[in-house]
Amino acid sequence: MLENITFTMIKPKALNNGYMGAIISKIIEGGFNIKALKLTRLTKKQAMEFYAVHKERPFYKGLTDFMSSGPIVAAVLKKDNAVKAYRDFIGTTNPAQATEGSIRALYGTDIEANAVHGSDSNENAIIESSFFFAKREWV
Ligand code: CMP
Repeated sequence: MLENITFTMIKPKALNNGYMGAIISKIIEGGFNIKALKLTRLTKKQAMEFYAVHKERPFYKGLTDFMSSGPIVAAVLKKDNAVKAYRDFIGTTNPAQATEGSIRALYGTDIEANAVHGSDSNENAIIESSFFFAKREWV
């Protein structure tokens, strides 16, 4: 069952630009069932923990500064093959190369502020969902 789950965040700049409703509508239209959803905010420490897998990368500081700079929307999504389906749906990491009409192409401005995060594996989808939500909220 949990292979049908993925986790997403709408990033601070997309919210600041007023795209919360449009992005949530697009996710629903894409056939993803929202299992859990919240508007919240990461501290710098939480952003560093969430993105710890990237801690050796040159963009880690900028990314974690950015992700803790304002509110985010966190959500758990359900669909068959959710991780791959959602990654295909949102477009490539760099919005400049993302498929026309995808969330990142429409609402992302650069590789860091690429509108939304999407889990990269079933294992990380569970870890990331558990980072924000109690199991009873999404299982
Ligand atoms: P996300 O799906 O949130 O997962 C990790 C994030 O790191 C990714 O989206 C990008 O926003 C960011 N990222 C990946 N590669 C780079 C890069 N080369 N420069 C800046 N940010 C990056």
